[in-house]
Amino acid sequence: MLILGIESSCDETAAAIVRNGREILSSVISSQIEIHKPFGGVVPEIASREHLAKIEPVVHEALKAANVLFKDIDAVAVTQGPGLIGSLLVGVCYAKALAFGLDVPFVGVNHIEGHVYSVVFENPEVEYPALALIVSGGHTNLFYIPEAGVYKVVSRTRDDAAGEAFDKVAKMLGLGYPGGPAIEKIALEGDPAKVKFTQPKISDGRPDFSFSGLKTAVARYARENDIKPLSAGEAPTQIVKDLAASFQASVVKSLAGTMEKLTKELEPKTLIVAGGVACNKALQSAASEVSKRSGVPVYFPSKLLSTDNAAMIAAAGHFHLDQGVRAGLDMTADVTMRLQNFENEDADLKSRRVKYRL
Ligand code: KG4
Ligand code: ZN
Repeated sequence: MLILGIESSCDETAAAIVRNGREILSSVISSQIEIHKPFGGVVPEIASREHLAKIEPVVHEALKAANVLFKDIDAVAVTQGPGLIGSLLVGVCYAKALAFGLDVPFVGVNHIEGHVYSVVFENPEVEYPALALIVSGGHTNLFYIPEAGVYKVVSRTRDDAAGEAFDKVAKMLGLGYPGGPAIEKIALEGDPAKVKFTQPKISDGRPDFSFSGLKTAVARYARENDIKPLSAGEAPTQIVKDLAASFQASVVKSLAGTMEKLTKELEPKTLIVAGGVACNKALQSAASEVSKRSGVPVYFPSKLLSTDNAAMIAAAGHFHLDQGVRAGLDMTADVTMRLQNFENEDADLKSRRVKYRL
C-alpha cells in the first residue's frame, strides 16, 4: 500500500511516499526556518502563505523522488492537528481535494501520533505496552500506549514545552532561532554542573513537567552575571556556554528522570523518545541510560525524522487506514486536537496494563 503523507502544521511543508507504513520511498521537507529567523519565531500568517506556495511543488518532488505517479497512490494521510490553523488548512484542503480527485481514501492524523510513529522506520518493531516521550517545540508529553493506537497521557508540561524553553532561552542569550540546536552546540563546550538549577516540584504530586521556572532562573542568572544577548557573529563566552550546558542538563534531567520513574511504575516493553528535541544528544544519552538501567529498549528517530516530516504522518495514517478508518470530505483542521483516547484513572490504567499482558 502506497501512502502519500502530507504535513503542514507549523513551519515545514512536507510530503512523503511510504510503502506499507514502514518503507520510505521519498521524504521531502521544505523548511521555512530562514524566512522566520528575522522574527525570532514562527509568524503564523507568513507560514500559511508559504505553505500555499510550497505544497504543490513539494508533493510533486516527493512523487518524482519516489519514482511514482499520482495514479500509483493508494491513500492520502494528512496532519489534521494540533498546529497553526492557517498552516493546517493548507495541507488538509490539499489532501482532501487530491484524495477526491484520485478517488482514494484519506485520513487525518494527529501530529503528535505522527511523532510516535517516527521511530518505526529505523528500529525493530515496537512492542506494547510502550512509553513514549514526545518532546517538541509545541508539546512535552509522556504517553502510555497499551496497544497500537491507544494513548493515555501520564505526564505533561504544566507550562512551556521543552523545545519552547530551548527556543526562549536561546533568544534570551542571543543564540538565534531555532534555539535547540544552537544551545546544544555551545553546551558541548560548557560545564553542565556550573549553574545549579533546582528541579521544579509539582504541588499535587503528579509526575508532570514544568520549564517556565527554569527559564526565569536562567534570566535571573544572566542578569546577575551581566550576561547580555550576543550580537550577530559574536562568539559566546565561557560563562554563556556553562549556562547553556547547565540549562540543557536541567531539562534533560527532568525529562529522563520522569521517564525512569514511570518506566518503573508502568513496566513498558518499549521506550520511545521522539519530536524535535529528541535529536538532542544529551537527551538521547540520558534516555539510553534509563534504558540500560531498566532493561527496556529505547528507540529514537534519526535527525530528519525527529523534526517535522511527512513520512511519520504516512506511517501513522497507514495504521489507521489498516484499521478501516476513513475521513469524510467534511473533515477539517483541528487546532487543539488531543491525543488521548484512554481516559480512565491511573488505577484502571494498571489493571489495563495487566490485562494486556495476559
Ligand atoms: O517537532 P518539531 O520539529 O516541531 C514541533 O512540532 O514543535 O520540534 C521543533 C523543536 C524546536 O523547539 C527546536 O528548538 C527543538 O525542537 N530542537 C531541539 C534540537 N533540535 C530541535 N532541542 C534541543 N536540542 C536539539 N538538538
Ligand atoms: Zn512536531
